[in-house]
Formats: sequence, C-alpha cells, structure tokens
Amino acid sequence: MSRYKASEYRKVLDKAKVCSEEYLDGLSQMPAYPDSKAVEALSIFDEPMPASSSKPEEVIELLSKYGAPATCASSGGRGFGFVQGGILPAALGASWLVDTWNQNAGFYDMSPVSAAIEGVAEKWVTRLFGFPDGSAMGLVTGSATGLLTCFIAARNELISRQGWDVRKQGFKKAPPIRIVLSAEAHSTVMNALYHLGFGTDEMEFVPVDHYGRMIPSKVPALDNRTLLILQAGHIVGGSYDPIDELTDMGRAAGAWVHVDGAFGLWAAVSDKQKHFVKGLGKADSCNMDAHKTLNSGYDNSIILCRDRSALESSLALGGSYVSSTTPNRNNNNYTPEMSRRARGIILWAALKELGRDGLEKLIDNMCRCTEYFAERLEEIGYEKPNPVFFNQFFIKLPTDEETKKALAHLQSSGITWMGGATWKGSHVIRISVSSISITKDSIDECLPAFREAIWYNHR
Ligand SMILES: Cc1ncc(COP(=O)(O)O)c(C=O)c1O
Repeated sequence: MSRYKASEYRKVLDKAKVCSEEYLDGLSQMPAYPDSKAVEALSIFDEPMPASSSKPEEVIELLSKYGAPATCASSGGRGFGFVQGGILPAALGASWLVDTWNQNAGFYDMSPVSAAIEGVAEKWVTRLFGFPDGSAMGLVTGSATGLLTCFIAARNELISRQGWDVRKQGFKKAPPIRIVLSAEAHSTVMNALYHLGFGTDEMEFVPVDHYGRMIPSKVPALDNRTLLILQAGHIVGGSYDPIDELTDMGRAAGAWVHVDGAFGLWAAVSDKQKHFVKGLGKADSCNMDAHKTLNSGYDNSIILCRDRSALESSLALGGSYVSSTTPNRNNNNYTPEMSRRARGIILWAALKELGRDGLEKLIDNMCRCTEYFAERLEEIGYEKPNPVFFNQFFIKLPTDEETKKALAHLQSSGITWMGGATWKGSHVIRISVSSISITKDSIDECLPAFREAIWYNHR
C-alpha cells in the first residue's frame, strides 16, 4: 500500500491547479520582471531544514504565494530577453501528466509508452528538419547538452575513421581531429568543446562578415578529420551562416558538419523562412530547442544525427542489468543520460497540438511580430544597424551611454524586459520574439516604455 492515498494527491493537485490557473490568469498583467519587493520576499524560503513535516498542499501554497510573484513572465507577451519560449497548452498538460506517471524514460523496459511516443516524435522531427528517414533523435535538457552530445558522436566517429576506438583506447593518444567553427560561435559551443578536451588554441576560427556569418572563402581547407560547426541563428543579431554552401564544402571533404540552431533552426518548418536553413538536410547533425521556438516549456531540447550508429556507439550504455537486447527503442541510446523524464511525450504533445499547419503559423506569426516590433522601434528613434533575422534583432542609441541608460530604464520598467549585449564593440539592446503569447497588441503595450527610455536619456 502506498504511503499516500490518491485522495491526498488529489488535494495537492487541486491546489496546484488553482495556483497555476491564478498564475495564468494574471500573466498578462504581471511585471515582465519581478520587482525588488517580490525578490526580497524570497527570503522566506531561507530557513534551516525544517525538523517537522508540512502538509503537501501547504508547501504548494507557500511556493505559489512567494515564488510566483518572483518569476520572470517570460511566457507572457512582454518578455523579449534571451531566447525564451512560452508554453503551449498541450505541452503544459502533458508535462503534468508525465510528472504524475513519473516514468523513467531512459529504457524501454522502464517505460514502453515513453519509448513508443518518443519514437514517433523522432520520425516527425526528422521529416520536419529535412534529415533522411532513419536519422536518430535524442532529447536533452538544452542545447548546451545537445551540442556536447553531438560533438561526442562526431569526435568519436572522426577518430574511429582513422582506425582508433575512443571507448577502448581513450582520447589522450588518439589521432588528431580538427575543429573548424565560426569566430562568433555561441558560448555553449565553446563549452561543449572544452568539456571534450579541446582548447581554443586547437580550434580553427573562421572570420565572419558584417552580420556575423561565416565567410565561406575564409574556411580553411577541410578534410575527413574535421568537425565543421555552423550556426543557424546568431545569439545577438540572429544571422545564419550560409549553410547550403558550407555543408557542400564539408561533405565534399568528408568532414562531419554540425549545425547549431538552438532557436533559429525552426525556420525549417516555414515556407517563408526556410531559405535561412537551406541545405540543412545535408548536415551530419544538428541541435535545436523545443523549449525556445516551439514553446514546449523547459527542459526540452532536440538533437538529430544522420548516422544513428555513430550516436549509439558513442552513447549506448553497457551493464548486465541494462536490457540492451530489446528490439525496441531505448531513449538513452541517444543522450549521455540514463534516467530522465519523458521529454519525448511533451515534445509529441506540442507537435500534435499544432500539427504541421499550426507549427508553420506559429513561426510565421513570430516572424511577423518581430518585423512589426523592429519597425515601431525605428519609428520611435532607435537605430537598428542590422536587418531582422528570423525572430531576432538588436537596437541601439547613438552612444553606449545612452543605450545602457535606456536598457536600464526598460529593465526596471516592469512593463517589458530584455537583455543587453555588445555588437562590434557597441552596447546594444537585444530583442528576441520567442513566446507564443507575443502579439502586435502586447508589443504595442511596451512601446511607451521604449519612448520613455529615450526621453529619460534627455532629462
Ligand atoms: C545559437 C545557440 N546555441 C546554443 C544555445 C544554448 O541553448 P540552451 O540554453 O538551451 O542550452 C543558445 C541559447 O540561446 C543559442 O542561441
């Protein structure tokens, strides 16, 4: 007999449901970023480990009362920071259900439902992104881990082609491989490479053009020992490397081509946007976050690998108690993890809710809103040095001082929130339109704050 009866779970789920509904009801009115009072009130959690137990529904009550006001309303319509998606209703519902089922999605034997549904999502995603049927999909927490996963497979495969088995003979004395990447690669690309034992001195950085795109004529001669890493969506300006040309160059040389498209790869699912990622289907591997552009909720990140066996041979687990003989899918053959929650079911639910048309509409609407936002901000008086790429752009004012003051004003306004960055040595305000809750109306609600931010500079 379980310690808790279903009725006891019901009480706490009812409480969580009410709290969640209240949160969603208030989301459109919430400050885009928690105010200092809400953040200070978090000190209520800072107590010694309690000696006595609490009622579960009281734990949820406390969490909701003090936690919710200190959340960032990144699922709302006025948050443009980092690249943060909202959450689709079916994904939220599936997430609740998956937590109730509490499946270990790592092995088929632990959860046939997780294996079966993730397998379906694999087929859908492979087609959506133009990878050949039979490609492997792995689901990880975020692109930082997705990149690491793909690079493990790429490194081991490039080394194994030279007659060396990394799993048996180790990496220290292995034949060398080359890493060719953009001078503007995302910091998580760098981290993944560091984790795998590569230092910056060993990497070959390719110069970029005015918008941060790799210049094909500056790519060093490639060979079949090379991991070539491309970027689909620069984190500051959103630009895309010329994937078609670069994948051709990589393939002709026998290199392993990876495309990091944490948010930008979703351009592939829209007829209007797919020109950005032309040639993607020729890559060996890629990564993109469902929790960003698809709005699946955290943590849900996808990797695709054309060579299933390269991924499996690098990641599959051994151990006598692990049923590696099952003909069915073991989800953990495609990620570095063993036990994990059933992300595949949540991904499936998001895709099932939208369908092919809904997914395309989601992307197209995001891109329309981004263009609309950029036009309004230019009208107000912001400079927009670069074009809009997909769902990203940045703005600035004539001097760094003005830009920094305007950003500080926007960030403390409560009306909207976004982050800063530097671009070609200048401070900029970066805008990412990633949440499904963003509409032209929610953008209009933010415009007075942008006007004030300029005015504030001239006081
Ligand atoms: C191009 C790129 N790669 C990787 C990442 C890391 O993604 P995650 O936060 O899911 O680890 C990001 C995050 O914005 C990104 O823009």
